Amino acid sequence: MSVRQSAAWQALQDHYTREIAAGTLRDLFQSDNARFSQFSTSHGDLLLDYSKQRITDTTMTLLCDLLLQQDLASWIDRLFAGARVNESEDRAALHSALRAPQGLKTRVDGVEIGPAIQDNLARMGQIVARLHQGHWRGFSGKAITDVVNLGVGGSDLGPHMVCHALEEFRHGAAQELRFHFVSSIDGSQLAEILRHLNQETTLFIFSSKSFTTIDTLANAETARQWLATKIDNPRVLMSQHFIGCSAKPEKMSEWGIPVANQLQFWDWVGGRYSLWSVIGLPIALLLGMPTFREFLQGAYEMDCHFRDAPLTQNMPVLMALMGIWNGNFIGVKGHAILPYDGRLKLFPAYLGQLEMESNGKSVTRSGEGVDYETCPILWGEVGPNAQHAFYQLLHQGTQPVYCDFLAPVLRYQHDEADGTHAPLLEQQQLALANCLAQSRVLMLGDHALDESQQAGRRPDQCYSGNQPSTTLLYRELTPKNLGALIALYENKVFVESVVWEINPFDQWGVELGKQIANKTHAAMQDPQASFGDASTDGLLAHIRAVAQEVQG
Ligand code: F6P
Repeated sequence: MSVRQSAAWQALQDHYTREIAAGTLRDLFQSDNARFSQFSTSHGDLLLDYSKQRITDTTMTLLCDLLLQQDLASWIDRLFAGARVNESEDRAALHSALRAPQGLKTRVDGVEIGPAIQDNLARMGQIVARLHQGHWRGFSGKAITDVVNLGVGGSDLGPHMVCHALEEFRHGAAQELRFHFVSSIDGSQLAEILRHLNQETTLFIFSSKSFTTIDTLANAETARQWLATKIDNPRVLMSQHFIGCSAKPEKMSEWGIPVANQLQFWDWVGGRYSLWSVIGLPIALLLGMPTFREFLQGAYEMDCHFRDAPLTQNMPVLMALMGIWNGNFIGVKGHAILPYDGRLKLFPAYLGQLEMESNGKSVTRSGEGVDYETCPILWGEVGPNAQHAFYQLLHQGTQPVYCDFLAPVLRYQHDEADGTHAPLLEQQQLALANCLAQSRVLMLGDHALDESQQAGRRPDQCYSGNQPSTTLLYRELTPKNLGALIALYENKVFVESVVWEINPFDQWGVELGKQIANKTHAAMQDPQASFGDASTDGLLAHIRAVAQEVQG
């Protein structure tokens, strides 16, 4: 039986129709002055306000009933204990183990994984120290100045996002290192970066869990050729200019990466959950190991909160429930991620993979088609920038969207020269004022204005409001708080998957495209090849004609 037919689901459906559908957020706030204290919670430096969601006490009770019915508690236990929750690939999903402190007793196939994880951190530490001390040298004996991460998806988005966000926490010894991230298969990003780099002082990190992803292989091959224009000796090229991070050591060796330069992780870490593993090497290089460990610690503390806090104070659970309530009962199909923090510019793209690759599924764990919505379309941008771009649609469009507003309460300026650490007030207050104003306008529409200002407005100037949002404030952006924020969303995604009865840890939906791309690539070289569909054949013919024209 589909979860949609279950008693808990039906009760929520009835509740929505009878008690919520006709009302507005404005009504809810007018009838209950205590909504903020009732519908907000905090953990560490994070405060979650979900009072601007279209919920009442009854909604929360019924949503919690749904979690009980779906047996969330035992799924959480199984996840953290290393059960094979990724059934289709017959694997555990133990990214949480990577951020747990020393002494972890979790086993995979009868073997304790804690020692291997600590070993990996120690090996990362050695590489970080060599680069920070200028002891990792290129072929001509000069110290490395530029580190280029070659990866895509989970082997790019996480480390790139975190390095961008935490630049101001750069380790003193990493001042001379520049970091670059290359993912695009067309080679355009790499070509642009290589124009400014010197083979003598450039180190590539070949980052790929599978070590078979064509995008990364193509970029790595181009990088190898670029190095070879200056380095005759292939052994020197590999040992001084390439590090490999992968779950496939044999493939790293086949490609020529010496064992000493291989950092390995495991099948039980999903690609989009891998920034806590050796895939996080660029983060560790930027921050140094002690600060990288603070980042892990923030995530670990969020895991503890997720496992231990009661449902009604449990941040990942509450955020998941808001997703389910909006998507499955109110019928909202869009989810916008709006950080009022320029440092989190890449966070929406990172969450795009985390949420949509995990939960963008339509078949349950038992192989049946779902008859309810799963992951919404998620996108986002730095909030103040998005105000000047797509907020028009949020305020006056025809698509309902629910929004996550994220903002730091404090922002500091560090002055290395005189060692000061001063709060930045003016621009920070401006950003916060905009954040709060936008969620209020989305909630109240025209009623955000005084009554006198509401009269006489043309229809195209009116705002209907009643758009739900959640606001997540963090005291300040620190490595620890960012770790907590990422783990919060990871755990939220898991809770949603439990309700939707889908496996969030596989991604079969990306496989067919890869296969067909291989076939298409072969067809490009063959003028006789036809796919039998007029569009693809027409496009191929056009591409061949242009290629012929330029080749003369
Ligand atoms: O194609 C999707 C995907 O498999 C993601 O799940 C993954 O993060 C990405 O490709 C990169 O994979 P890899 O790290 O194996 O190169």
